[in-house]
Amino acid sequence: MTDRTIVAPSILSADFGNLGEACRELERCGADWIHLDVMDGHFVDTITYGPAMCRALSRYTSLPIDAHLMVDEPLRFAELFAEAGADTITVHAEADRHLHRTLQRIRSLGKKCAVALNPATGLDAVKWVLPECDMLLIMSVNPGAGGQRFIASALDKIEQARRFADERGLELLIEVDGGIDAATGALCRARGANVLVAGSSVFSSTDKAGMIASLRG
Ligand code: DX5
Ligand code: ZN
Repeated sequence: MTDRTIVAPSILSADFGNLGEACRELERCGADWIHLDVMDGHFVDTITYGPAMCRALSRYTSLPIDAHLMVDEPLRFAELFAEAGADTITVHAEADRHLHRTLQRIRSLGKKCAVALNPATGLDAVKWVLPECDMLLIMSVNPGAGGQRFIASALDKIEQARRFADERGLELLIEVDGGIDAATGALCRARGANVLVAGSSVFSSTDKAGMIASLRG
């Protein structure tokens, strides 16, 4: 398990006319992963980007692409994003009746797989699939938009998940997404998170490299 916090800026807060350049800039500024927020207009209201965008962006960066699928019936999209060059594929527990099968399928495609929990969903919903996962994504806002306030109850969920993983010897990355800045990021790290997603705090900063470094702690 890595001790170093992985920082995964979300390009949801970048200029959508220049997403390739945004990926290049994040790589220059020391980001570890590029977080891609995929929204289908069903699971959440907004539509963002599909697999073609993922493929196009993979030509602008050598960083791993962390695809966060906020979509219904995630299996079909997961396969398309795997083909399009995503490295980590996250599906929401709330969106999939056959979560175990979907996670196994993602792994069989040679990708890291992860399950995401909305703020209202407890850890119990995914305990039986965590051994099949490389990562757990704990949402600290309701999915669908950047720039929202951090929901503090995510902190207890992080701690519970870290304890659960440690007790069972699972090498689980714990990612937190939503309202992350230097202060909330530090709280998440202290409770056992090791992957931080940040959109607006990175893109509103005039010093992205400094912001990314401060998120890493
Ligand atoms: C919300 C997305 C997040 C979001 C984070 O649906 O999953 O990745 O872009 O944005 P900030 O950091 O602005 O909360
Ligand atoms: Zn996200």
